[in-house]
Amino acid sequence: MNDTTSGSSYKAHDLIAENIDAYLEQHQHKSLLRFITCGSVDDGKSTLIGRLLYDSKMIFEDQLAALEADSKRVGTQGQQIDFALLVDGLAAEREQGITIDVAYRFFATDRRKFIVADTPGHEQYTRNMVTGASTADLAVILIDARKGVLTQTRRHSYLAQLIGIRNLVLAVNKMDLVGYDEQRYKAIVADYRAFADSIGIAAFTAMPISGFMGDNITTPSSNMPWYTGPALLPHLENVALDVTAAQDQPFRLPVQWVSRPNLDFRGFAGLVSSGRIRPGDAVRVLPSGKVSTVTRVVTLDGDLEEAVAGQSITLTLADEVDCSRGDVLAAADNPPQVADQFEATLVWMSDEPLVPGRSYWLKLGTQNVSAQIQTPKYQINVNTLEHLAAKTLDLNAIGVVTVTTDKPLVFEPYAASHDLGGFILIDKFSNGTVAAGMLHFALRRSQNVHWQALDITREAHAAQKQQQPRVLWFTGLSGAGKSTIANLVEKKLHALGKHTFLLDGDNVRHGLNKDLGFTDADRIENIRRVGEVAKLMTDAGLIVLTAFISPFRAERDMVRAMLPAGEFIEIHIDTALAEAERRDVKGLYKKARAGELKNFTGIDSPYEAPEQPEIRIDTGAMLAEDAAEEIVRALLL
Ligand code: ADX
Repeated sequence: MNDTTSGSSYKAHDLIAENIDAYLEQHQHKSLLRFITCGSVDDGKSTLIGRLLYDSKMIFEDQLAALEADSKRVGTQGQQIDFALLVDGLAAEREQGITIDVAYRFFATDRRKFIVADTPGHEQYTRNMVTGASTADLAVILIDARKGVLTQTRRHSYLAQLIGIRNLVLAVNKMDLVGYDEQRYKAIVADYRAFADSIGIAAFTAMPISGFMGDNITTPSSNMPWYTGPALLPHLENVALDVTAAQDQPFRLPVQWVSRPNLDFRGFAGLVSSGRIRPGDAVRVLPSGKVSTVTRVVTLDGDLEEAVAGQSITLTLADEVDCSRGDVLAAADNPPQVADQFEATLVWMSDEPLVPGRSYWLKLGTQNVSAQIQTPKYQINVNTLEHLAAKTLDLNAIGVVTVTTDKPLVFEPYAASHDLGGFILIDKFSNGTVAAGMLHFALRRSQNVHWQALDITREAHAAQKQQQPRVLWFTGLSGAGKSTIANLVEKKLHALGKHTFLLDGDNVRHGLNKDLGFTDADRIENIRRVGEVAKLMTDAGLIVLTAFISPFRAERDMVRAMLPAGEFIEIHIDTALAEAERRDVKGLYKKARAGELKNFTGIDSPYEAPEQPEIRIDTGAMLAEDAAEEIVRALLL
């Protein structure tokens, strides 16, 4: 084996032996490069990572512990860690962890610290690669010199480009197995360049290597004198980091928290994501747009003359402006944009497919808002890069969508800023991350549709009717008795002089919602529209009763969130499926069982019962008249 361990890494070891404090001091001030390796195990990924760890001679913590355990197991205790053993260990670890996430490995040389995210290469692990790539400064795309550019090379390159990794290394590996042939190498690079051009990758650094033999890993290989570029590790040590470039961008500070230790001090704390800031600089608070001047730049180590991208600071301002977590402080003359509707690319990362129209949490830096995704404009085939029609996005699918948020977001296109253009979507119930997204641009609507302030307010409407507006939201299976009970409740309220209106599923579906069927997406849209109408009616001062199956918790909660606290009364008309089916007033259960009616609630479409409804009516134990009486009584309390 051609062991080309460079001299450089030994120097660190000497320093550790001689002066540990000096070493630690030096180590702390090294820059950090995060990178990702793309390719499958066949391409020699584990071997390459093993080679980097081995040659840097700086194997840390968990790796060391694992290797020690391994060497005990095979009875080689006390011997130098063996390269082959190391690679086996890495490969085994990779296989065990393969379905969960990304293996991060840490190593260092004299010049830099490194975190390498090792992600599996297959298409079903696209989400893992995206996770690993999301924080990477550089990607190493591995190619097997015998095989050349493959589908997965294209997929990985597309993803690296999509995530916006600015430095790409094309490592043509296993050169030893093609006789270190220059022509073979050149043909592969030319092939890759043609593909890279087609997807807008402006530049990449190609190098011929052998991870197994150690060629061009730490020092130029004597086996390939025709190659005059850098070896891999020196390239990784020298490549320019993004944070340096970020300092030359306009100033941005996403506010993490407001610090107010006493009445005299109010500071806005966060990490400077780009640019620089000094006392005296004018800043704009977004989304409000208010302008003020920086008075102090405070850190744990005292006040600064200037802070730059990458530093955590607290700013104090000359004026008492409204500013809280999620707001962004920005250069007054060059602020980011504010909008509530966008085009974006989504990488779907959940086993549960995207539900268009459903509300998800959208987290962008320190901002957290409720967002809806419309039916995708198209999905992208990651192997061929074709655009495909799609109604939803499944696990690992990548698509272009319209995102609408319930509050304005401070943002920049992802291409300009990963911090203000990259976001994740979170399921409101499971709290799991379901997608990673990249904002392209704001859609016109958000800039041109304004909210009209009206003089006769909802309070004025309600006061004239002398009642507290409410939405009585009846939910339950088809045939549970929602319409019957809601109808009785409305009659009683009407008799008491209340101003009411009943929105009933079967009726609304003949008019406003006649374009909607019973797919999940259509039901969600049904409830969204009914929610909006009910809200308008409460603005008009009415007590609104709605009788819809409304099978999904997420949409019922969405309507709840649209209304002031206490105005949404969820009433679960709880009838067992067997009982509703036995009654089968409209004969629909029979049809559904016969397969003549698809997506029927309770049969082949789910019903998610409320967990904590304000009122629950067990129709097995109570007559409709008594149920109505109980609901009215509860309301009048
Ligand atoms: S919801 O799920 O979108 O809330 P909605 O309450 O508007 O449903 O409509 C339900 C009514 O539509 C049922 O009472 C029934 O009369 C009728 N219907 C027709 N097809 C279906 C179906 N596949 N599932 C449930 N209800 C259906």
